[in-house]
Amino acid sequence: MKQIKMLGFAGSLRKASFNRALLRATTEVAPGHMEIDVFDLADVPLYNGDIEAEGDPEPVAALKRAIHAADGVVIATPEYNQGMPAVTKNAIDWASRPPKPQAWDGKPVVIMGASPGRLGTVSAQRSLRETLSAVNARVMPQSRVLLSGAGKAFESGMLVDEATRERLGKFMNQAAEWIARLEEAAA
Ligand SMILES: Cc1cc2nc3c(=O)[nH]c(=O)nc-3n(C[C@H](O)[C@H](O)[C@H](O)COP(=O)(O)O)c2cc1C
Repeated sequence: MKQIKMLGFAGSLRKASFNRALLRATTEVAPGHMEIDVFDLADVPLYNGDIEAEGDPEPVAALKRAIHAADGVVIATPEYNQGMPAVTKNAIDWASRPPKPQAWDGKPVVIMGASPGRLGTVSAQRSLRETLSAVNARVMPQSRVLLSGAGKAFESGMLVDEATRERLGKFMNQAAEWIARLEEAAA
């Protein structure tokens, strides 16, 4: 089976972030032929056209390069006030900028999110899908990982809830099949 190279990022800078932990667990349960490199957004500045005019700061250039080089992207987003937080949106915005083709163009993306609340990140994922469609990314249809009550699922940053781990593994297998199908169709 062809190796699938993914880039993953979490839209939270918090050390003990549930979404960073969810992404880490994703790297553990992904199928053997899928490799996920995690990109830390901590050094990506807030988008500013004046900064951009002087040339992309290295963390931005690195993010763009990493998305271009990947077969697909995994985004684990928190939910803030029923939308995605600035950290998630900022990364998408920077990577959508020139040169063309911009990094998201046609890129397969799988989305997930964790929240201590009851609804997981349903609203954040809705807004994330909308934004990703605006930058012409291809978001895996239908299936998603919405982890509610995240406080109970993790211990010291480890995903200890077995049912969630199993669901996450199935989800990433499905993502691998979906990306392979897209690549076959494009060949
Ligand atoms: C400004 C702000 C707004 C929030 N709004 C929501 C919300 O609308 N829905 C929700 O489920 N959780 C909300 N939360 C709680 C976050 O889900 C929680 O802080 C979560 O742990 C953040 O993700 P992280 O653990 O990956 O940092 C909010 C938190 C903050 C700081």
